[in-house]
Amino acid sequence: MTILYEPNRRVAQQFAMLLGSDTLTVVTSSDLARLVTDLPGEWLVVLGPGVELGEAMAMAAGYRLSRPSLGVVLIRAQTDVGVLGDALRAGIREVVPADDSVQLLNACARSVEISRQLLPVSPTRPEQSGPETDAKVVTVFAAKGGCGKTTVATNLAVALAEGGRRRVGLIDLDLAFGDVAIMLQLVPERSMADAVGLGPALDGRAVRALFTPYGPGVDALLAPTGPTEGEQVKQDLVTQILQLSRSLFDFVVIDTPPQFNDHVLVALDLSHQHVLLTTPDIPALKNLRITLDTFDLLNLPQEHRLVVLNRSDAKVGLTSADIARVIRTPIAAYVPSSRDVPVSINRGVPIVLDNPQHPVSRAIQDLAVNRLADGQPGRPTARGLRGLLGRGRR
Ligand SMILES: Nc1ncnc2c1ncn2[C@@H]1O[C@H](COP(=O)(O)OP(=O)(O)OP(=O)(O)O)[C@@H](O)[C@H]1O
Ligand SMILES: [Mg+2]
Repeated sequence: MTILYEPNRRVAQQFAMLLGSDTLTVVTSSDLARLVTDLPGEWLVVLGPGVELGEAMAMAAGYRLSRPSLGVVLIRAQTDVGVLGDALRAGIREVVPADDSVQLLNACARSVEISRQLLPVSPTRPEQSGPETDAKVVTVFAAKGGCGKTTVATNLAVALAEGGRRRVGLIDLDLAFGDVAIMLQLVPERSMADAVGLGPALDGRAVRALFTPYGPGVDALLAPTGPTEGEQVKQDLVTQILQLSRSLFDFVVIDTPPQFNDHVLVALDLSHQHVLLTTPDIPALKNLRITLDTFDLLNLPQEHRLVVLNRSDAKVGLTSADIARVIRTPIAAYVPSSRDVPVSINRGVPIVLDNPQHPVSRAIQDLAVNRLADGQPGRPTARGLRGLLGRGRR
C-alpha cells in the first residue's frame, strides 16, 4: 500500500489513479502524520508536486530517524540539480518529474524494494499485535426520516474527536442514500462496498484503508455511490467491518437509514450507546415510541439509550410534558432549531467546527463529552497534538 500526500485534491486524484487502487490519499500534513502513525507497517509515502520542498524535506528527515523503513518519493513539477541534492541529503529516496509516470512507478518500486531489505520481516499488522484500542460504538438512529441523524452523527464525530485528541471513525450505514460524504464534502473514492469479496484478506489494515480522512481525529467510511453497490454489502460483512473498526479508533459513530434493516440491527447489537433522535412533532414522537418498544423486544439495554430532541425549540404547540408523556423516557439532550444548521450543511462544514459556540454546537458537544465520553477529556496524544498543530479542517 502507498500513502500519497498532495494538498490539491484534483492533482491528488490524478496521481492516486496512477499509483493504483491500494493508495491512501491525504490532502493535509496532519492527516499524513496520523496515517503514518496508524499504519506502522507502511513502506512508501509519495509527496505530490503541491507539497512545499521545505515541508517534504522536514518530513523525510524525520522519517529517516523515526521510521527508516518508510521511503519517501517526491514528485516535482520541475527538477533541477539543486533540488535533487537538497532532497536526497534530507533522506528523500527519489525525486521524479510530475509528467513522467513510468519514472514515478519505477521509483516507487525501487523504494519499496529498499524498505523490504531494511525490514526483512513482514510489517506488523495492527490486529497481530492485539487491538490498540477498543472503541466505544455509538449508533445514531431514528425510524422516521429527516429527524437530523446525519447532522447529529457528523457533528458528534467532530465533537468527540476534539481536534484530534480522540480518534473517531464515522461510518455511514445508510448504504443506499448515505449523506455523510456530501455533508463533509468528501469524495467517495472508497466505500464499504470495496470490502465485498475480500474474504480472509479483510483485516484491520484493509478496513483502515476503506476510511477516508476528514480532519484531525475523524475518518469516515462512506456509503457507496449507488444503491446497487450497497445491496452487495451483507449483514456478515457489516458485522466484520464494525468489529475490526473497533480496534482502530477510540469511538465509532454510526449513521443509519430511517428503518430497522439487517445492517441497522447489527449496528445496534454491537453498540455501547444508542442515540435516538426525534423532533417535537407527533409522527416523530410516535415513531420514537415504537422504536423504544421494539428495542425492548430486541432486549437492547435501556441504559444504552440516549434520547435527543432535535429542533427542541420549534414552536409546534407541544410542551416538554406532552413529549415526556409520549416517550416515557428522559431526554438526554436538547438540540435547538437553527437555520445555521442547513447553512453549515450547504457549506459542507459541520456546525461544531464552523461555529463551536453556537447553541446547536454546544448541545452536541455536551452530549459528546459529558454523556458519551463520560466527561473524560480526550487524551493529549502526540497524534492529537500534531493534528491540532496541522491545518485542521479543510
Ligand atoms: N437542529 C436543526 N435545526 C435546523 N435544521 C436542522 C436541524 N437538524 C437537522 N436540520 C435539517 O433537517 C434536514 C434533515 O437532516 P438530516 O439529513 O441530518 O436528517 P436525517 O435523519 O439524516 O435524514 P434521512 O432520514 O433522510 O437520512 C437537513 O436539511 C438539516 O439541515
Ligand atoms: Mg441521513
